[in-house]
Amino acid sequence: MKTLKFANGDEMPSFGLGTWKSAPGDVYEAVKTAVKLGYRHIDCASIYGNEAEIGAALSELFADGVVTREEMWITSKLWNDSHAPDDVAPALQGTLDHLKLDYVDLYLMHWPVALKKGITLAESGDDFISLDELPVAKTWEAMEYLVMAGGCRHIGVSNFSVPKLSALLEVANRAPEMNQIELHPYLQQPEMLEFCRSRDVHLTAYSPLGAPDRPGVFKADDEPVLLEDKVVLELADSLGVSAAQVLIAWAIARGTAVIPKSINPERLKQNLKAAALTLSAADMAAIAALDRRRRYVDVQLWTPPGSPYTAANIWDQ
Ligand code: A2P
Repeated sequence: MKTLKFANGDEMPSFGLGTWKSAPGDVYEAVKTAVKLGYRHIDCASIYGNEAEIGAALSELFADGVVTREEMWITSKLWNDSHAPDDVAPALQGTLDHLKLDYVDLYLMHWPVALKKGITLAESGDDFISLDELPVAKTWEAMEYLVMAGGCRHIGVSNFSVPKLSALLEVANRAPEMNQIELHPYLQQPEMLEFCRSRDVHLTAYSPLGAPDRPGVFKADDEPVLLEDKVVLELADSLGVSAAQVLIAWAIARGTAVIPKSINPERLKQNLKAAALTLSAADMAAIAALDRRRRYVDVQLWTPPGSPYTAANIWDQ
């Protein structure tokens, strides 16, 4: 399996299992099935509300000898309500307790957005703390200590724009090694790819299938459906694979990690197989032409009236 290499020699499998939107009752079986099929990378987050079930599945897989802890790559993410420096280590400890692990391989700042302690999803502008009051650099400093304390091996960010990533790289003592962002043929972000390549930051592509099961707040009536794209379907047909497999192979061919979510055994198997699929230069060129800067996961949750956050100041566009 292709991997992304880190400066200290650690390797993260480019293909992993996404767990956003996997309900607690489903994710336990999904993780057990996935690891038995050969998945070695699971992407988690505290806000997904399912880390305890993932932890139960992992500890059974370890106890049954299916896989060892060292063979797995586990990522998790710091929620927005724990950006205050004193809240960072307890947040990671909560995740470790749920996952029943001594360390995660990678811990990411989930959003460049700060919420008051105890707020999971904001209801009004009062629930936020602006980045002027609580800069990401302060949160980052606390995350750097986590690596020294041993609770995580690598740290990075998620949903960061090029300017935010660039600013953090300027001040960080330990550079962010990952930016996890929405990436798929309708949102290819070539400038981000170029920037990250030039600064040795890896990228993970979330919502690689267009997240068809995301909550209604993120949906529009007239939105294009990535899994039904004509060009993708034609390519899939010509290669004898599914549209999802084309999308996964495309992400890996671009040198990013990719974390399609599934709770369905057949699709879990199909998606893993796609990690070994090769696309030709002509296939890649046909997909390159599909970019339309279409986000499926935008900032609706962070921009209620009175919030200091806007789409413009989150994405810096
Ligand atoms: P399910 O979990 O029932 O398999 P994303 O990773 O972009 O968030 O997309 C996840 C969505 O795509 C889920 O609804 C998931 O459904 C579905 N999905 C996962 N794998 C496939 C596949 N191979 N073909 C079609 N849909 C898929």
